[in-house]
Amino acid sequence: MVAVHIVRMSRLRACVTLAHVRYTSTQADPAPNPGTRGHMSAWQIHHYGGNEELTLSSTVRMPTLRSPEDILIEVNAASVNPIDVRMRGGYGRVVFGVMRKGLSSLPFLQPDVPSEFPLTLGRDFSGVVVETGKKVRKFRIGDEVWGAFSINRQGSHAQFTVASEKEIAKKPAKLTHVEVGSMPYVAMTTWAALCSVGEMKESNTLGQRVLIVAGSGGIGNFAIQLMKAWGAEVTTTCSTDAVHLCQGLGADNVIDYTTSNVAEELKRISGFDMILDTIGAKNHGVSVDLLKSWKNSKYVTVVPPLMKNADEYGLLLGTAKSMGTLGFNVMEGFRGGRSYRWALFVPNGRALGQVTEMVENGQIHPAIDKVFPFSEVPQAFAKVEQGHARGKTVIDVTKME
Ligand SMILES: NC(=O)c1ccc[n+]([C@@H]2O[C@H](COP(=O)([O-])OP(=O)(O)OC[C@H]3O[C@@H](n4cnc5c(N)ncnc54)[C@H](OP(=O)(O)O)[C@@H]3O)[C@@H](O)[C@H]2O)c1
Repeated sequence: MVAVHIVRMSRLRACVTLAHVRYTSTQADPAPNPGTRGHMSAWQIHHYGGNEELTLSSTVRMPTLRSPEDILIEVNAASVNPIDVRMRGGYGRVVFGVMRKGLSSLPFLQPDVPSEFPLTLGRDFSGVVVETGKKVRKFRIGDEVWGAFSINRQGSHAQFTVASEKEIAKKPAKLTHVEVGSMPYVAMTTWAALCSVGEMKESNTLGQRVLIVAGSGGIGNFAIQLMKAWGAEVTTTCSTDAVHLCQGLGADNVIDYTTSNVAEELKRISGFDMILDTIGAKNHGVSVDLLKSWKNSKYVTVVPPLMKNADEYGLLLGTAKSMGTLGFNVMEGFRGGRSYRWALFVPNGRALGQVTEMVENGQIHPAIDKVFPFSEVPQAFAKVEQGHARGKTVIDVTKME
């Protein structure tokens, strides 16, 4: 185990040296902290903005364990998600700011309050444990792990990151870091939406009729596979060049929203037990009326207006406005005994452990759109920003070019 660690550290040094040669930071690099073990390379932003704000620095302080349940992980791969692109531009700064700084920051919460800079983006990873806190029981140095962490942590587009024992699981052994690094954030968002909020589980999903809006994206790909593995009948929507991908993942009905009238097609099929909305689909022919009435059916959206409203109007007014929208949508569903719910990503190491088993059993496969080396993180952001995802965009942190 020690030998493995030494090999990894020498690889790190090689990467750091290369980073020095290839990149010149436009920002002052953080001052070295003589009290820590050293420095690492990480992509950071120092202001909100476009891709030009992403800066690779090779002198970022190594993250330290802040709690006895924390684990230091050497990152091998991480994905890029729409939330990274939006956070680069300031999305969620008010709500995430409260999560990072705590409620004590409330009196200062106005839309223009900046988050903490420099900020490293990236919400998930696959890597290797290099240090464990005193209370860590389930993981040891050298374990290969994957995870997705809470927003109040610095991100994973870096050579090292820190996560809690409760946010990670053992990595599926059969697959590479790049393959599995594509999944944790979308997997845990889907789990929060379908399982925690939507109350689906392996024992109650058989035969359920599920509509997954936008099967072509990261969440859609994972959701199709999870629901099929548990025996649901899955309908999804996507554009023409993603039809084969969605069918290959197991979807029973695939509606091409670019060539057909989605509202008409869905009305014809209708009678869903669950709708997972990943695009704000009320503007795209999808509504609570497509759910079965008086059968405990649910419309769960992962695009609630909360963050956007808080950014625009401040925390209090923004939350009030969002609650008004939620109340209206809940009442819409209430007439037919249907429920309308919001879902947000929640880190969940236990659920990720179940996903590890499903991946190892061949029930869930990674769907990867494109892999970028660590030196091309801005290109990876540009790809995600263009939209039209066909699976996940992944960064191989071990590769510089
Ligand atoms: N609540 C949370 O905590 C949370 C967490 C993660 C993500 N999210 C949100 O969930 C959304 C989806 O995330 P993701 O990671 O799956 O995004 P993604 O990988 O970028 O996928 C989005 C997919 O939607 C497709 N699409 C766009 N318009 C469509 C339409 N009218 N009908 C059907 N498909 C359509 C796109 O392909 P085409 O344009 O080519 O059709 C693309 O494949 C994002 O808005 C993200 O912010 C929320």
